[in-house]
Amino acid sequence: MEPFIYQNPTKLIFGRDQLSALSKEIKPYGTKILLVYGGGSIKRNGLYDQVQQQLTEINATVFELSGVEPNPRLTTVQKGIDICKAEQIDFILAVGGGSVIDGTKAIAAGAKFEGNVWDIIAKKANATDALPFGTVLTLAATGSEMNAGSVITNWETQEKIGWGSPFVFPRFSILDPVHTFSVPKDQTIYGTVDIMSHVLEQYFSHAPNVPLNERFAESILRTVIEAAPRALENPEDYEARESILYCGTMALNGTLSMGMTGDWGTHSIEHAVSAVYDIPHGGGLAIIFPNWIKYNLDTTTPKMKQLAIRVFGVDSTNKSDREIAIEGIEKLREYWNSIGAPNRLADYGINEERLTDMAEKAAPSGTVGRFQPVSPQDVYEILKMSL
Ligand code: NZQ
Ligand code: ZN
Repeated sequence: MEPFIYQNPTKLIFGRDQLSALSKEIKPYGTKILLVYGGGSIKRNGLYDQVQQQLTEINATVFELSGVEPNPRLTTVQKGIDICKAEQIDFILAVGGGSVIDGTKAIAAGAKFEGNVWDIIAKKANATDALPFGTVLTLAATGSEMNAGSVITNWETQEKIGWGSPFVFPRFSILDPVHTFSVPKDQTIYGTVDIMSHVLEQYFSHAPNVPLNERFAESILRTVIEAAPRALENPEDYEARESILYCGTMALNGTLSMGMTGDWGTHSIEHAVSAVYDIPHGGGLAIIFPNWIKYNLDTTTPKMKQLAIRVFGVDSTNKSDREIAIEGIEKLREYWNSIGAPNRLADYGINEERLTDMAEKAAPSGTVGRFQPVSPQDVYEILKMSL
């Protein structure tokens, strides 16, 4: 293993009817609350009213920032920061998916920063503080509910950048599987792919002697693979939604990467694609990840072979390691196809036109990825395989 320090301060409140804890959790922070949400799903499924009721119980003065976009934009983050500064907000409550939570993290850090928040996101400055915030998660995917990462898009410059700071761990996150019943089919598919991709990014690591991490990772993959078709078949299957929700959090709350640094190159490549074409994150990952593994087969073979056997049940008899790994990639692709994930950039109308541009955006500092660094030329080839 690699040496590591692990500290995750987010209080996870998980299970049916746990929203009833909300008022008690917020109370210590004050009464001026900024409620942040997306395009209206929480109004349609009734969660908005339930949250408002909890806020009424503590006589909160509630300000609202709605319309946080999937792939949240800097302009919206800035609106939130302006409200926080003008109204002296005590606490931010994010109710939504990863985009709402990521936007909230940037607002929280920006509200305590004198300069332009984009400097923090673009890593030209460090966050030195943040307003406290909590989340009510409505979509299993990013893990943002229990990590200190955030991904923000600057649409003017067509940059989508991931950043993080120990100041932006949520104080608490409330996860009730029922809140994910209304997640539509496509977002359920994207969330499934995203969760599996987070596991894969970490699985591809050179750290020696990480049998527990690998088995944690494989367990998450197997659990999601088993639960997603059930949730797609019956969106109100509580146990399937519960398993996916738990997997989503465990895939990216730091547990898997204790003592093991992963790759994360595919995420950077996908962020470059969605910076230019504004496609859903999970959709982009489903297209790119199998091609990244295949393109880098010289390096990925040992891990992919292990995964093929342990997760996808590939029979290894009389096959070379490379053959087993390739079969594993095919099984991964087949599984994602079977749940209805996209598999070509053409599915989003993306052609060769801006491949070079995206390849350069993916690796602005020369290479991207730790397990297998890839250059813009490599990214170009991976994207070409994905057309
Ligand atoms: O905006 P509303 O109306 O709420 O609708 C959303 C949105 O249209 C909808 N939705 C969410 N919960 C719902 C629901 N619809 C019905 N019922 C519900 N219960 O789903 C749509 C997508 O939401 P979004 O928050 O964008 O999805 P997701 O959670 O997948 O987040 C994606 C963003 O997170 C970033 C991605 O790059 C992308 O920008 N990521 C953040 C990470 C992190 N912070 O650690 C890591 C990830 O790898 C990822 O990069
Ligand atoms: Zn992701």
